[in-house]
Amino acid sequence: MAVPLFDPTRQHEILRAPLEEAFRRVLASGQYILGREVEAFEAEMADWLGVAGSVGVSSGTDALLVSLLAAGIGPGDEVLVPAFTFFASASCIRRVGAEPVFVDICPACFLLRPEDARARQTDRTRAILPVHLFGQAADMGHLLALAAEHDLTVIEDAAQSLGARHRDTQTGTLGDYGAFSFFPTKNLGGLGDGGLLVARNAEDLERARVLRVHGMQPKYHHRHLGGNFRLDALQAALLRVKLPYLGESLAARRHHALAYAEELAAEPGVLRPETPSPGTCPCRSGPCLPGEEEARLVLPFRYPDREGAWNQFTLRVPGEGHRDDLARHLRERGIGTEIYYPRTLPGQPCFSAENRGPYPGADRAARECLSLPLYPELREEERHEVVAAVRDWLRS
Ligand SMILES: Cc1ncc(COP(=O)(O)O)c(C=O)c1O
Repeated sequence: MAVPLFDPTRQHEILRAPLEEAFRRVLASGQYILGREVEAFEAEMADWLGVAGSVGVSSGTDALLVSLLAAGIGPGDEVLVPAFTFFASASCIRRVGAEPVFVDICPACFLLRPEDARARQTDRTRAILPVHLFGQAADMGHLLALAAEHDLTVIEDAAQSLGARHRDTQTGTLGDYGAFSFFPTKNLGGLGDGGLLVARNAEDLERARVLRVHGMQPKYHHRHLGGNFRLDALQAALLRVKLPYLGESLAARRHHALAYAEELAAEPGVLRPETPSPGTCPCRSGPCLPGEEEARLVLPFRYPDREGAWNQFTLRVPGEGHRDDLARHLRERGIGTEIYYPRTLPGQPCFSAENRGPYPGADRAARECLSLPLYPELREEERHEVVAAVRDWLRS
């Protein structure tokens, strides 16, 4: 049985009638950019996240860019950002003229290591940009404390973590700014590009709203150098159809993720990282986990006090060439996988100037990570097929 990495058409088929109705409503309205649909979506998202307001923008990348612009970050400033994440987390820093300073990650949870952030902080550091990678909250307790000590702006990249919590609080709403993405593979996936930004402070949110339309306020009066970061009415209307099902979708993601972990942990050679105490990273600040030398697969570590949103289910496959071998084995069985991400950011040619390595945790993740199919409409028998194929590889 073939199992696609991702198939958005399954959810859209279920919601076909209300999606078509939303399309007809926008078509008839004559208002295609911002306007009533976007305002209603912003209010519904703010409500869902438990914040006072939000600003719909053209993509998750633009949500990050507008946050940096609104925070006034620019030339001469340094911003701490993980060495292992999607490109946009760091490219936006460079695009506003500031310098990304890469911080290593833990190879068990794939999240930025606060102690490395602290070590790389200088008197030029203006902000920290934690990424809640693969749908798990970064260590916000330590990062917010570091930010408070040095008066840093905190911009959370919550593109992959809509619905994830840090203790009781939604990721993206803990720092000064939070950036969300509605790229189709995300937890709330659009039918095109879209993003959203929240801010702790009402004035910052208002500045972001003005920056979204060329920094224009009032009309044709440009106080700030903004851009066209607007969200389409059609995208907002379609996302409004999907938002009421987000809770259900997140529960389905969690169900599949926990089932993958249970089913795979039962196999010999599979390491399930454990932590000595809740809230403490199991990697104990090193690039390897205890017991990793004998492991053929390492399951993703989840913190008990952080409810995950499981945008991905990402394994590590230690050993030279073993990750690619498993990916090939699954491909031959018709099972889709993806490598998020095959290269660290300091290893990207456009960031060579910012490479202040070493980054042993990030290097290891880039060499060994492999994501399995995980989305709400994945069928039980498809997940069993994936587990059986991994099991065959483990026994081969
Ligand atoms: C961690 C992370 N940051 C930022 C982005 C950018 O979002 P978008 O694709 O909506 O611009 C993404 C999405 O791909 C992401 O995964």
